[in-house]
Amino acid sequence: MLNPQVDLLITHAKLATLAGGTGPRRGRTMQQVEFIEKGAVAVAAGKIVFAGKMTDLQSAHLKSAVVWNADGRLITPGLIDPHTHLVHAGSREKELSLKLRGVSYLDILAQGGGILSTVRATQAATEQALTAQALVSLRRMLEQGTTTVEAKSGYGLNRQTELKQLRVAQALNKLQPVELVSTFLGPHALPPEFGQRSDEFIDQMIALASAVKSLGLAEYADIFCERGVFSVADSRRYLTACRDLGYGLKLHADEIEPLGGTELAAEMQAVTVDHAVAASPEGLRSAAAAGVVTVLLPGTSWNLGGHYANARFLLDEADGAVALATDYNPGSCPSESLQLIMAFAANGLRMTPEEILTAVTRNAAYAVGRGEQIGRLEAGWQGDLCVWETSELAYLPYHFGINHIKRVYKRGLLVVEDGRAVKEAAK
Ligand code: NIG
Ligand code: FE
Repeated sequence: MLNPQVDLLITHAKLATLAGGTGPRRGRTMQQVEFIEKGAVAVAAGKIVFAGKMTDLQSAHLKSAVVWNADGRLITPGLIDPHTHLVHAGSREKELSLKLRGVSYLDILAQGGGILSTVRATQAATEQALTAQALVSLRRMLEQGTTTVEAKSGYGLNRQTELKQLRVAQALNKLQPVELVSTFLGPHALPPEFGQRSDEFIDQMIALASAVKSLGLAEYADIFCERGVFSVADSRRYLTACRDLGYGLKLHADEIEPLGGTELAAEMQAVTVDHAVAASPEGLRSAAAAGVVTVLLPGTSWNLGGHYANARFLLDEADGAVALATDYNPGSCPSESLQLIMAFAANGLRMTPEEILTAVTRNAAYAVGRGEQIGRLEAGWQGDLCVWETSELAYLPYHFGINHIKRVYKRGLLVVEDGRAVKEAAK
């Protein structure tokens, strides 16, 4: 095989490859992570051309412009965060004391706070202000190892602001190294001026979804299917229209109440069903059987009172494919750190280090429709790499609350060194 010019060669590493086969890993196979001791990775023109044992390196790889000895450190694929509400204005620390007094998340929303207060702030914000705030978050994500992030709209609830959020997300791709995948989440809450008329609002959001699609501003469509927000019937109508428009489908489902959104995800052949904390066992089984990736958000569980999804059932009984995400947003999970989520996944979801790694790399890649481009250390996949300050995978979720990143590479380019973003890698 002809070896192209190699731009980067990393030697003396322990690789966790997640390579081979196709599709996300399901059920018990999420436990199977292949480790290669004394391994090397070579990247050319942004793509991995070799990931394997150093003894199998070929002479062309050794002519690399940049060679770095990783000194036994663990290298994994760059982390992928498949569920965030990245672009928004302001923050909601004022809700902390309400929460501590026992006011529930849905009650805060019903009183016009919660999502609706971020909607007001985001409607009032300029594109520059939204961009500046998101850039700070993206830098934090990158420094913690996240190289690709899904970003939802949903703090507009009107045409002007939803388009503004999506334009900002698109522009962010060119301003910094993290790659963004956009999702249209028009029906995130019912604006108070619609009273009980969710039908009318869904009609408007379907029309807007059509405009967003023709502008090329989002790949996925999402809805908050929850008691007091949008019903299963509203969600089915919206998602059916979005599917016909060519969107991949996602759902915020069964986060707080068991409404049946997980069953709907199976029926609609959604790409992902997200949250699923209160989902029924039948719902989890049907989603798994339909090939829907379940995106679990244990940071939100930790922050909203400690009710966690039944990950062990999904993995041990339902043969489900699980991905993990931050759900980064100013209300239910104000943290950009996927590393913290990995710790919560161990402690709250009882997932093993191997399952957790699979869930934030290979499976998360499928959750954003990029399973054949990112999420593995394998020839042909993008050169997105995390080099960790440890050789032991289990150390990452075990020693929680600090940043374990040594280096991050995006498409073979060094973008984080010693846990800090490299300035020249602005784009
Ligand atoms: O995924 N549940 C709905 N949406 C977000 C929270 C958004 C917010 O509180 O601002 C979530 O948890
Ligand atoms: Fe969310």
